[in-house]
Amino acid sequence: MTKYRIATIPGDGIGPEVMAAAVSVLEGLEEVRKDLSFEFFELQAGDGLKKRTGVALPPDTLEEVKRSDAGLFAAVGETAKEVILPLRQKLDLYVNLRPTKVYPHVPHLKEDVDITIVRENTEGLYKMVGDRGDDWGFNVRVITRKASERIARFAFELALRDGRKKVTCVHKANVLDKTCTIFQEACRHVAESYPSIEYDEVIVDACAMRLVMRPEVFDVILTTNMFGDILSDEAAGLVGGLGMAPSGNIGDENAIFEPIHGTAPRLVGKGIANPMATVLSAGMMLDWLGNKDAAKVIEGAVIEVLTEGKTLTPDLGGSASTSDVAAAIRSKLH
Ligand code: IPM
Ligand code: MN
Repeated sequence: MTKYRIATIPGDGIGPEVMAAAVSVLEGLEEVRKDLSFEFFELQAGDGLKKRTGVALPPDTLEEVKRSDAGLFAAVGETAKEVILPLRQKLDLYVNLRPTKVYPHVPHLKEDVDITIVRENTEGLYKMVGDRGDDWGFNVRVITRKASERIARFAFELALRDGRKKVTCVHKANVLDKTCTIFQEACRHVAESYPSIEYDEVIVDACAMRLVMRPEVFDVILTTNMFGDILSDEAAGLVGGLGMAPSGNIGDENAIFEPIHGTAPRLVGKGIANPMATVLSAGMMLDWLGNKDAAKVIEGAVIEVLTEGKTLTPDLGGSASTSDVAAAIRSKLH
């Protein structure tokens, strides 16, 4: 019996609603799979907490995530910069993994999309190095060979593990000649150790266009922090938006899984937010914990609910509630 200690960070807005759904699905999994169990402990962070205490991310929350086997994060509002970015950087969660694919019954713009975006998660423009005066400002883009090589290595290892054929380095080395050139060199260097995986490079603007016109040419996209941020929303848009987009922030010691969507202020308290991105993130968490099998069970249950098409939230054309969807997913865990 494997027991996992899972830190949950529900946060703000619809965060607590989708988190409750995901926790309920994991509890359902415990019932059908006698080989694993979860101990959940809830941690505080976000806008609400800052309002009450003045601090958006208490040191305790960070420490507890460190001590957990994995974290599940839902959403925070205005304080995202003070919460998720420090969690990513202080815990050295250097990979932002964003699988993007078409799910049944989800209205989408493009067929044949099955792209894994591997976004560097600790540096680039997100280093928040800069300054501003009244009428001027700058943000410095920091790229190191160390961070570039480790993210590249992760992308190639993932390609090997998942049977993927190609890794595409997305850069802007033609203009960002002091930073993207290092990223590109690191990707080329790492690619040499993986002769069975095809490697190519695309400049980020061309990548943005090609994603819209011919997304099927992409397999694994390997890129820097800000480019990955933008391209992952674009890619999610192709397959039906953020309601179905999970992600993982992964390091060598710790990991936090989170839906890409935010707090959805318009939906708060209505109980109709789509919990599937959070549930799929919980699936990714199990995969990272080494339980590929259980991860497949979760994704399979989500796919069954989608295929049946009877229990869907309004964003997918249904009239079910968040908890109806959680119960439906639970009933399909086998
Ligand atoms: C994301 C989000 C965050 C980011 C924000 C909320 C800080 O957009 O996870 O993609 O820019 O990384
Ligand atoms: Mn984003």
